[in-house]
Amino acid sequence: MAEPEFRRYLVNVESTSTHQLFTDCLVIGAGIAGLRAAIEAAEHCNVIVVCKNSLQESNTWQAQGGIASVLDETDTFESHIADTLSTGCGISDRNIAELVVRQGPQLIEQLLCWGTEFDMVDGCIATTLEGGHSRARVAHAHGDETGRMIAEVLIKKVRENPNIKIAENFSVADLLTNDEQECIGIIGHDRRGPQIIWAVNTILATGGAGQLYRETTNPAVATGDGIAMAYRAGAVLQDLEFMQFHPTTLYIAGASRALITETLRGEGAVLLDSKGRRFMKDYHESAELAPRDIVSRAILSQMLKTNSTHVYLDVRSFGKRHFAQRFPHISELCESFDIDITRDTIPVRPSAHYMIGGVKADVSGKTSLEGLYACGEVAATGLHGANRLGSNSLLEGLVFGKTAGQSACQQAQTGIAHIKHPPIKYQIRHSDRTRLDATDVRNSLRALMWRNVGITRKARLLTEAQEIIRFWQRYVMDKIFDTPQGWECQNMLTVSLLMAQAAETRRESRGVHFRSDFPDADDDHFKKHIEITPGK
Ligand code: FUM
Repeated sequence: MAEPEFRRYLVNVESTSTHQLFTDCLVIGAGIAGLRAAIEAAEHCNVIVVCKNSLQESNTWQAQGGIASVLDETDTFESHIADTLSTGCGISDRNIAELVVRQGPQLIEQLLCWGTEFDMVDGCIATTLEGGHSRARVAHAHGDETGRMIAEVLIKKVRENPNIKIAENFSVADLLTNDEQECIGIIGHDRRGPQIIWAVNTILATGGAGQLYRETTNPAVATGDGIAMAYRAGAVLQDLEFMQFHPTTLYIAGASRALITETLRGEGAVLLDSKGRRFMKDYHESAELAPRDIVSRAILSQMLKTNSTHVYLDVRSFGKRHFAQRFPHISELCESFDIDITRDTIPVRPSAHYMIGGVKADVSGKTSLEGLYACGEVAATGLHGANRLGSNSLLEGLVFGKTAGQSACQQAQTGIAHIKHPPIKYQIRHSDRTRLDATDVRNSLRALMWRNVGITRKARLLTEAQEIIRFWQRYVMDKIFDTPQGWECQNMLTVSLLMAQAAETRRESRGVHFRSDFPDADDDHFKKHIEITPGK
């Protein structure tokens, strides 16, 4: 089948006649990484933060379990680093793990000073256990509202900072590049119409891509836009085959999926099948505290064995008062579905949760494109290897947000007068192909990704997925949309195809990537990252 023509931009660009803004540093995205980057960069230069929806709409906001770090003297950096590397299945970057783990305590202390209400015990930050951690080292705030509590504090700081301008409901269509292959800003859209923002440095912090799957814990904004626009701009991507599935998402037919934190299992919740039997011991000696990929596959296998659509999380031992205090968000959620946690078990199943791969970034957050940095979930720094240790993501976002903000403002000292931005004119040929329903394509794509590029993969299904996605691309990618929904659909097709290709290339099983046709790890050929270089 003919490949659809590669389009550098999703929209027509006519820079001289488009409304323009200038900034030293532009941050795209408002999760922990983007907000922390903006605060850091604003120490030395002016910053604009743009986000697709409101500042509250992010994966960070919804994060429940917490943020992992070495917070008491019984724990050690070596132990946290060792857990991170062992979960990463041989391809985590040790230097990055050292950097992230060692900066954790100081940056969490700073969050505490800025006003984050971490749960405390005897005057110290309280910690709990999650799967894959050999110690209790996950800090939490307001029980299971950790992400929201951190985000609120960062949003307040960003709003109060005179060097930072915020543009909410601003959809970015593309990164702009000049002839030297430098990133020089973005073209996007807000309620006033098309906008260009020229920037000395751009920090991509657009978050994840869970919406590529029918079942996901992620908010509606997580459509992989950052990965797609970096790809069109020519940046190197890495590890796209590694999508982490969270074992326990609330499963009630017709209701939207909601995360049921792993911390519950850390604190004693057990998994039961539809016959009421505890089954995790059949699959792993650590039972419910095995790494997430193992728990997710075990649940799937038990669902098949018992011919059922889900399993159950049993929290009946917690007691109503303790449960409501420690997990207020989940407690309310259960009540809203008439689940009485002292009597009933919670129906759960796995769903797409965290994109491990993304835009390749180095130790300073720099990508392969001059002027472009990436941090947080959109970035692939190598920290997580082939599998992410629970609650290491907020930590990575915090550390790399700061690092990317610092690097970008150091580079921005030449000032906006020095942005090399020749006029850009890019015209897309009009397509007279049939009209289409982008919502229908999007829903079909999400179902396809769940079926064919999901928790268990094999060559035939991965090839089929690519053929179907290419077919859809033929009549979606030649359109010019003027709404974010259209661009999202195009981005989702782009990222899905790249993920299916990477998953086909990795002919082994490692971490979150499980191939039923290659069930073992193959260190001789695949103990490495898979990079995607546009145009190669
Ligand atoms: O289960 C959770 O609370 C998720 C934590 C994480 O993804 O790090």
